[in-house]
Amino acid sequence: MKLAKRVSTLTPSSTLAITAKAKELKSQGHDVIGLGAGEPDFNTPDYIIKAAVQSMEEGHTKYTPSGGLPKLKEMIAHKFKQDQNLTYSSEEIIVGTGAKHALYTLFQTLLDEGDEVIIPTPYWVSYPEQVKLAGGKPVYIEGKEENDFKVTPEQLQDAITSKTKAFILNSPSNPTGSMYDPEELKAVGEAALDNDILIVSDEIYEKLVYGGAEHTSVAQLSEKLKEQTIIINGVSKSHSMTGWRIGYAAGRKEIIKAMTNLASHSTSNPTANAQYGAIAAYEKDDGSVENMRKAFEDRLNTIYDKLVELPGVTCVKPKGAFYLFPNVKEAAKMNGYDDVDEWVKDLLEEEKVALVPGSGFGSPDNVRLSYATSLDLLEGAIERIGRFIEKKKQ
Ligand SMILES: Cc1ncc(COP(=O)(O)O)c(C=O)c1O
Repeated sequence: MKLAKRVSTLTPSSTLAITAKAKELKSQGHDVIGLGAGEPDFNTPDYIIKAAVQSMEEGHTKYTPSGGLPKLKEMIAHKFKQDQNLTYSSEEIIVGTGAKHALYTLFQTLLDEGDEVIIPTPYWVSYPEQVKLAGGKPVYIEGKEENDFKVTPEQLQDAITSKTKAFILNSPSNPTGSMYDPEELKAVGEAALDNDILIVSDEIYEKLVYGGAEHTSVAQLSEKLKEQTIIINGVSKSHSMTGWRIGYAAGRKEIIKAMTNLASHSTSNPTANAQYGAIAAYEKDDGSVENMRKAFEDRLNTIYDKLVELPGVTCVKPKGAFYLFPNVKEAAKMNGYDDVDEWVKDLLEEEKVALVPGSGFGSPDNVRLSYATSLDLLEGAIERIGRFIEKKKQ
Protein backbone atom coordinates (compact mmCIF):
# COMPACT_ATOMS: atom_id res chain seq x y z
CA MET A 1 0.00 0.00 0.00
CA LYS A 2 1.18 3.50 -0.77
CA LEU A 3 1.77 5.26 2.52
CA ALA A 4 1.44 8.97 3.20
CA LYS A 5 4.29 11.21 2.09
CA ARG A 6 4.68 12.48 5.63
CA VAL A 7 5.91 9.11 6.85
CA SER A 8 7.85 8.08 3.78
CA THR A 9 10.19 11.05 4.19
CA LEU A 10 10.86 10.39 7.88
CA THR A 11 14.49 9.64 8.68
CA PRO A 12 14.74 6.56 10.89
CA SER A 13 16.38 7.16 14.26
CA SER A 14 20.16 6.96 13.90
CA THR A 15 20.41 5.01 17.12
CA LEU A 16 18.20 2.24 15.77
CA ALA A 17 20.58 0.69 13.26
CA ILE A 18 23.45 0.52 15.72
CA THR A 19 21.19 -0.72 18.54
CA ALA A 20 19.82 -3.45 16.29
CA LYS A 21 23.33 -4.52 15.32
CA ALA A 22 24.47 -4.48 18.98
CA LYS A 23 21.46 -6.64 19.93
CA GLU A 24 22.20 -9.09 17.15
CA LEU A 25 25.82 -9.45 18.31
CA LYS A 26 24.69 -9.86 21.92
CA SER A 27 22.22 -12.60 20.95
CA GLN A 28 25.11 -14.41 19.27
CA GLY A 29 26.83 -14.47 22.65
CA HIS A 30 29.24 -11.54 22.13
CA ASP A 31 30.20 -9.34 25.05
CA VAL A 32 28.91 -6.01 23.71
CA ILE A 33 29.21 -2.72 25.61
CA GLY A 34 26.37 -0.48 24.50
CA LEU A 35 26.87 3.25 25.01
CA GLY A 36 23.81 4.31 23.07
CA ALA A 37 21.39 4.68 25.99
CA GLY A 38 19.30 7.82 26.12
CA GLU A 39 17.93 7.17 29.57
CA PRO A 40 19.27 7.08 33.13
CA ASP A 41 20.28 3.61 34.30
CA PHE A 42 18.66 4.07 37.74
CA ASN A 43 15.31 2.82 38.95
CA THR A 44 12.50 5.29 39.40
CA PRO A 45 12.62 6.28 43.10
CA ASP A 46 10.46 4.05 45.25
CA TYR A 47 8.19 6.73 46.68
CA ILE A 48 7.07 7.62 43.14
CA ILE A 49 6.25 4.01 42.28
CA LYS A 50 4.30 3.65 45.53
CA ALA A 51 2.26 6.80 44.82
CA ALA A 52 1.32 5.53 41.35
CA VAL A 53 0.30 2.11 42.69
CA GLN A 54 -1.71 3.74 45.45
CA SER A 55 -3.51 5.96 42.91
CA MET A 56 -4.65 2.87 41.01
CA GLU A 57 -5.73 1.11 44.18
CA GLU A 58 -7.77 4.18 45.05
CA GLY A 59 -9.55 3.99 41.70
CA HIS A 60 -7.82 6.78 39.77
CA THR A 61 -7.86 4.72 36.62
CA LYS A 62 -10.13 6.82 34.42
CA TYR A 63 -9.70 9.62 31.89
CA THR A 64 -8.23 12.81 33.27
CA PRO A 65 -8.50 16.34 31.80
CA SER A 66 -6.67 16.43 28.43
CA GLY A 67 -4.04 18.91 29.54
CA GLY A 68 -3.28 17.00 32.75
CA LEU A 69 -4.58 16.70 36.31
CA PRO A 70 -5.09 20.07 38.04
CA LYS A 71 -2.97 18.86 40.97
CA LEU A 72 -0.08 17.93 38.66
CA LYS A 73 -0.23 21.32 36.95
CA GLU A 74 -0.20 22.90 40.39
CA MET A 75 2.93 20.93 41.31
CA ILE A 76 4.62 21.85 38.01
CA ALA A 77 3.82 25.52 38.64
CA HIS A 78 5.25 25.12 42.14
CA LYS A 79 8.42 23.56 40.70
CA PHE A 80 8.83 26.45 38.23
CA LYS A 81 8.47 28.96 41.08
CA GLN A 82 10.79 27.15 43.45
CA ASP A 83 13.56 26.23 41.01
CA GLN A 84 13.48 29.08 38.51
CA ASN A 85 11.38 31.81 40.13
CA LEU A 86 9.00 31.60 37.17
CA THR A 87 5.28 32.13 37.63
CA TYR A 88 2.89 30.12 35.46
CA SER A 89 -0.82 29.63 35.98
CA SER A 90 -2.41 26.26 35.24
CA GLU A 91 -3.77 27.70 31.96
CA GLU A 92 -0.17 28.25 30.91
CA ILE A 93 0.82 24.60 31.41
CA ILE A 94 -0.02 21.45 29.45
CA VAL A 95 1.04 17.97 30.52
CA GLY A 96 1.76 15.58 27.66
CA THR A 97 2.85 11.98 27.25
CA GLY A 98 6.54 12.83 27.57
CA ALA A 99 8.46 15.94 26.57
CA LYS A 100 8.72 14.46 23.08
CA HIS A 101 4.95 14.49 22.70
CA ALA A 102 4.70 17.99 24.19
CA LEU A 103 7.11 19.13 21.45
CA TYR A 104 5.17 17.24 18.79
CA THR A 105 1.91 18.90 19.86
CA LEU A 106 3.63 22.28 19.93
CA PHE A 107 4.94 22.04 16.36
CA GLN A 108 1.56 20.77 15.14
CA THR A 109 -0.01 23.79 16.83
CA LEU A 110 2.47 26.39 15.58
CA LEU A 111 3.44 25.50 12.06
CA ASP A 112 1.81 25.94 8.69
CA GLU A 113 3.20 24.52 5.47
CA GLY A 114 6.62 26.05 4.76
CA ASP A 115 7.07 27.77 8.14
CA GLU A 116 10.70 27.67 9.20
CA VAL A 117 12.15 26.55 12.52
CA ILE A 118 15.79 27.31 13.28
CA ILE A 119 17.61 24.33 14.77
CA PRO A 120 21.22 24.54 15.97
CA THR A 121 23.45 21.58 15.05
CA PRO A 122 24.24 19.15 16.61
CA TYR A 123 20.55 18.59 17.40
CA TRP A 124 18.41 16.02 19.14
CA VAL A 125 17.25 13.68 16.36
CA SER A 126 13.50 14.27 16.80
CA TYR A 127 13.49 18.05 16.28
CA PRO A 128 13.85 18.09 12.48
CA GLU A 129 11.49 15.16 12.00
CA GLN A 130 8.80 16.70 14.19
CA VAL A 131 9.11 20.03 12.38
CA LYS A 132 8.80 18.26 9.00
CA LEU A 133 5.82 16.22 10.20
CA ALA A 134 4.05 19.49 10.97
CA GLY A 135 4.75 20.77 7.44
CA GLY A 136 7.57 23.02 8.62
CA LYS A 137 11.08 23.41 7.29
CA PRO A 138 14.10 22.90 9.57
CA VAL A 139 16.77 25.56 9.05
CA TYR A 140 20.11 24.59 10.56
CA ILE A 141 22.74 26.81 12.11
CA GLU A 142 26.02 25.32 13.17
CA GLY A 143 26.95 25.19 16.84
CA LYS A 144 30.71 25.22 16.34
CA GLU A 145 32.90 22.94 18.39
CA GLU A 146 35.26 25.82 19.20
CA ASN A 147 32.28 27.63 20.76
CA ASP A 148 31.24 24.57 22.82
CA PHE A 149 28.64 23.79 20.14
CA LYS A 150 26.68 26.92 21.02
CA VAL A 151 25.27 29.34 18.44
CA THR A 152 25.65 33.11 18.47
CA PRO A 153 23.00 35.83 18.08
CA GLU A 154 24.63 36.76 14.74
CA GLN A 155 24.13 33.24 13.41
CA LEU A 156 20.53 33.29 14.54
CA GLN A 157 19.97 36.72 13.00
CA ASP A 158 21.43 35.59 9.66
CA ALA A 159 19.13 32.56 9.51
CA ILE A 160 15.92 34.47 10.18
CA THR A 161 13.56 35.03 7.23
CA SER A 162 9.97 36.24 6.95
CA LYS A 163 8.92 32.59 7.34
CA THR A 164 10.77 31.90 10.60
CA LYS A 165 8.37 30.89 13.35
CA ALA A 166 10.57 29.45 16.08
CA PHE A 167 14.08 28.77 17.32
CA ILE A 168 14.95 25.66 19.34
CA LEU A 169 17.26 26.05 22.30
CA ASN A 170 18.33 22.88 24.09
CA SER A 171 20.45 23.60 27.13
CA PRO A 172 21.98 21.34 28.48
CA SER A 173 22.10 19.70 25.09
CA ASN A 174 21.59 16.22 23.79
CA PRO A 175 23.99 15.17 22.23
CA THR A 176 26.78 17.60 23.30
CA GLY A 177 26.05 18.28 26.97
CA SER A 178 26.92 21.94 26.43
CA MET A 179 25.03 24.62 28.31
CA TYR A 180 24.46 28.32 27.62
CA ASP A 181 25.36 30.79 30.36
CA PRO A 182 22.94 33.64 31.20
CA GLU A 183 24.73 36.23 29.00
CA GLU A 184 24.74 33.93 26.00
CA LEU A 185 21.08 33.10 26.58
CA LYS A 186 20.19 36.76 26.83
CA ALA A 187 22.01 37.54 23.58
CA VAL A 188 20.33 34.78 21.52
CA GLY A 189 17.02 35.35 23.32
CA GLU A 190 17.00 39.02 22.41
CA ALA A 191 17.78 38.27 18.77
CA ALA A 192 14.67 36.04 18.76
CA LEU A 193 12.66 38.69 20.58
CA ASP A 194 13.66 41.45 18.13
CA ASN A 195 12.34 39.33 15.28
CA ASP A 196 9.23 38.07 17.10
CA ILE A 197 10.31 34.45 16.92
CA LEU A 198 9.12 31.97 19.49
CA ILE A 199 11.88 30.37 21.56
CA VAL A 200 11.31 26.69 22.21
CA SER A 201 13.46 26.03 25.26
CA ASP A 202 13.92 22.30 25.83
CA GLU A 203 15.12 22.02 29.44
CA ILE A 204 14.70 18.28 29.92
CA TYR A 205 18.30 17.94 31.26
CA GLU A 206 17.92 20.89 33.66
CA LYS A 207 18.68 18.83 36.77
CA LEU A 208 21.76 17.12 35.34
CA VAL A 209 24.45 19.82 35.46
CA TYR A 210 28.03 19.49 36.64
CA GLY A 211 31.15 21.25 37.85
CA GLY A 212 29.15 23.63 40.04
CA ALA A 213 27.36 25.03 36.97
CA GLU A 214 23.82 26.25 37.43
CA HIS A 215 21.08 25.89 34.89
CA THR A 216 19.36 29.07 33.73
CA SER A 217 16.27 29.23 31.55
CA VAL A 218 16.05 31.97 28.92
CA ALA A 219 12.58 32.65 30.34
CA GLN A 220 14.12 33.73 33.64
CA LEU A 221 16.00 36.62 32.08
CA SER A 222 13.14 39.07 31.52
CA GLU A 223 9.36 39.18 31.45
CA LYS A 224 9.49 39.75 27.68
CA LEU A 225 11.70 36.72 27.15
CA LYS A 226 9.35 34.66 29.27
CA GLU A 227 6.42 35.74 27.06
CA GLN A 228 8.42 34.77 23.98
CA THR A 229 9.38 31.31 25.28
CA ILE A 230 7.71 27.94 25.53
CA ILE A 231 9.56 25.81 28.09
CA ILE A 232 9.61 22.07 27.56
CA ASN A 233 10.50 19.85 30.49
CA GLY A 234 9.48 16.60 32.17
CA VAL A 235 10.34 13.93 34.70
CA SER A 236 11.97 11.40 32.33
CA LYS A 237 15.59 12.37 32.94
CA SER A 238 15.36 14.14 36.31
CA HIS A 239 13.55 11.32 38.11
CA SER A 240 14.53 8.41 35.87
CA MET A 241 10.95 8.04 34.65
CA THR A 242 11.47 7.59 30.90
CA GLY A 243 8.88 4.83 30.55
CA TRP A 244 6.20 6.74 32.42
CA ARG A 245 5.82 9.26 29.59
CA ILE A 246 5.18 12.48 31.46
CA GLY A 247 6.46 15.79 30.09
CA TYR A 248 5.04 19.28 29.82
CA ALA A 249 5.08 22.64 28.10
CA ALA A 250 4.65 26.06 29.69
CA GLY A 251 4.07 29.39 28.01
CA ARG A 252 1.49 31.73 26.51
CA LYS A 253 -2.12 30.85 27.28
CA GLU A 254 -3.35 30.91 23.68
CA ILE A 255 -0.68 28.45 22.57
CA ILE A 256 -1.28 26.11 25.52
CA LYS A 257 -5.04 26.24 24.95
CA ALA A 258 -4.66 25.27 21.28
CA MET A 259 -2.21 22.50 22.21
CA THR A 260 -4.72 21.18 24.76
CA ASN A 261 -7.50 21.15 22.13
CA LEU A 262 -5.23 19.19 19.83
CA ALA A 263 -4.24 16.74 22.58
CA SER A 264 -7.91 16.13 23.34
CA HIS A 265 -8.16 14.54 19.88
CA SER A 266 -4.90 12.60 19.99
CA THR A 267 -4.00 11.17 23.39
CA SER A 268 -7.13 12.28 25.32
CA ASN A 269 -4.86 12.55 28.36
CA PRO A 270 -1.49 11.42 29.69
CA THR A 271 -1.79 8.09 31.55
CA ALA A 272 -3.56 8.67 34.85
CA ASN A 273 -1.33 6.68 37.21
CA ALA A 274 1.82 8.12 35.62
CA GLN A 275 0.47 11.58 36.39
CA TYR A 276 0.02 10.57 40.03
CA GLY A 277 3.61 9.35 40.03
CA ALA A 278 4.75 12.71 38.65
CA ILE A 279 2.78 14.56 41.35
CA ALA A 280 4.70 12.55 43.96
CA ALA A 281 7.99 13.26 42.17
CA TYR A 282 7.45 17.00 42.58
CA GLU A 283 5.80 16.85 46.00
CA LYS A 284 8.75 15.33 47.78
CA ASP A 285 12.52 15.33 47.44
CA ASP A 286 14.11 12.24 48.98
CA GLY A 287 17.55 13.14 47.62
CA SER A 288 17.48 10.69 44.72
CA VAL A 289 17.61 13.37 42.00
CA GLU A 290 20.81 14.78 43.52
CA ASN A 291 22.24 11.29 44.08
CA MET A 292 21.74 10.45 40.40
CA ARG A 293 23.29 13.76 39.38
CA LYS A 294 26.33 13.07 41.55
CA ALA A 295 26.74 9.57 40.12
CA PHE A 296 26.67 10.99 36.58
CA GLU A 297 29.19 13.68 37.49
CA ASP A 298 31.50 11.09 38.96
CA ARG A 299 31.39 9.00 35.83
CA LEU A 300 31.88 12.03 33.60
CA ASN A 301 34.98 13.14 35.45
CA THR A 302 36.47 9.65 35.44
CA ILE A 303 35.97 8.80 31.81
CA TYR A 304 36.40 12.24 30.25
CA ASP A 305 40.11 12.30 31.13
CA LYS A 306 40.60 8.82 29.71
CA LEU A 307 38.66 9.59 26.56
CA VAL A 308 40.67 12.67 25.61
CA GLU A 309 43.93 10.73 26.04
CA LEU A 310 42.99 8.50 23.10
CA PRO A 311 44.92 9.35 19.93
CA GLY A 312 42.94 11.39 17.40
CA VAL A 313 40.10 12.08 19.83
CA THR A 314 39.13 15.54 21.09
CA CYS A 315 36.12 16.35 23.21
CA VAL A 316 34.46 19.47 24.56
CA LYS A 317 33.86 18.82 28.26
CA PRO A 318 30.10 18.67 28.78
CA LYS A 319 28.44 20.76 31.48
CA GLY A 320 25.25 18.73 31.63
CA ALA A 321 23.07 15.79 30.43
CA PHE A 322 24.74 12.34 30.29
CA TYR A 323 26.49 12.28 26.95
CA LEU A 324 29.98 12.87 25.61
CA PHE A 325 30.24 13.98 22.00
CA PRO A 326 33.88 13.51 20.99
CA ASN A 327 35.25 14.42 17.58
CA VAL A 328 36.87 11.25 16.24
CA LYS A 329 37.58 12.40 12.69
CA GLU A 330 41.36 12.24 13.22
CA ALA A 331 41.21 8.80 14.86
CA ALA A 332 39.10 7.50 11.98
CA LYS A 333 41.53 9.01 9.48
CA MET A 334 44.49 7.42 11.27
CA ASN A 335 42.66 4.12 10.92
CA GLY A 336 42.10 4.64 7.19
CA TYR A 337 38.44 5.73 7.31
CA ASP A 338 37.09 8.87 5.62
CA ASP A 339 33.68 8.22 7.04
CA VAL A 340 33.15 8.14 10.83
CA ASP A 341 29.95 6.07 10.39
CA GLU A 342 32.04 3.26 8.86
CA TRP A 343 34.57 3.53 11.71
CA VAL A 344 31.70 3.21 14.23
CA LYS A 345 30.39 0.12 12.42
CA ASP A 346 33.76 -1.61 12.47
CA LEU A 347 34.36 -0.64 16.11
CA LEU A 348 31.18 -2.49 16.97
CA GLU A 349 32.02 -5.45 14.74
CA GLU A 350 35.61 -5.85 15.96
CA GLU A 351 35.69 -4.53 19.55
CA LYS A 352 32.00 -4.84 20.42
CA VAL A 353 31.49 -1.25 21.56
CA ALA A 354 28.29 0.43 20.37
CA LEU A 355 28.48 4.22 19.90
CA VAL A 356 25.96 6.41 18.10
CA PRO A 357 27.37 8.07 14.95
CA GLY A 358 27.16 11.87 15.05
CA SER A 359 25.77 12.00 11.50
CA GLY A 360 22.26 11.43 12.88
CA PHE A 361 22.67 14.56 15.03
CA GLY A 362 23.94 16.66 12.12
CA SER A 363 27.63 16.33 13.12
CA PRO A 364 29.32 13.64 11.01
CA ASP A 365 32.80 13.99 12.61
CA ASN A 366 31.55 13.11 16.08
CA VAL A 367 30.11 10.16 17.98
CA ARG A 368 27.74 10.14 20.94
CA LEU A 369 28.68 8.14 23.94
CA SER A 370 26.20 7.88 26.79
CA TYR A 371 27.52 7.50 30.32
CA ALA A 372 24.19 6.23 31.62
CA THR A 373 25.89 2.95 32.41
CA SER A 374 28.27 1.64 35.09
CA LEU A 375 31.81 3.00 35.46
CA ASP A 376 33.24 -0.49 34.94
CA LEU A 377 31.58 -0.79 31.57
CA LEU A 378 32.53 2.76 30.63
CA GLU A 379 36.18 2.16 31.46
CA GLY A 380 36.07 -1.13 29.56
CA ALA A 381 34.62 0.65 26.55
CA ILE A 382 37.32 3.34 26.51
CA GLU A 383 39.97 0.64 26.74
CA ARG A 384 38.48 -1.19 23.78
CA ILE A 385 38.20 2.00 21.70
CA GLY A 386 41.88 2.71 22.47
CA ARG A 387 42.82 -0.80 21.43
CA PHE A 388 40.85 -0.45 18.18
CA ILE A 389 42.55 2.85 17.28
CA GLU A 390 46.03 1.41 17.99
CA LYS A 391 45.37 -1.83 16.15
CA LYS A 392 44.09 -0.10 13.04
CA LYS A 393 46.74 2.64 12.84
CA GLN A 394 48.09 2.84 9.30
C1 LIG B 1 16.74 16.86 24.19
C2 LIG B 1 15.59 15.97 24.51
N1 LIG B 1 14.37 16.49 24.54
C3 LIG B 1 13.30 15.74 24.83
C4 LIG B 1 13.42 14.40 25.08
C5 LIG B 1 12.17 13.59 25.34
O1 LIG B 1 11.98 13.23 26.63
P1 LIG B 1 10.68 12.44 27.09
O2 LIG B 1 11.14 11.11 27.56
O3 LIG B 1 10.08 13.25 28.20
O4 LIG B 1 9.77 12.35 25.93
C6 LIG B 1 14.68 13.80 25.05
C7 LIG B 1 14.83 12.35 25.26
O5 LIG B 1 15.79 11.72 24.90
C8 LIG B 1 15.80 14.61 24.76
O6 LIG B 1 17.04 14.09 24.73
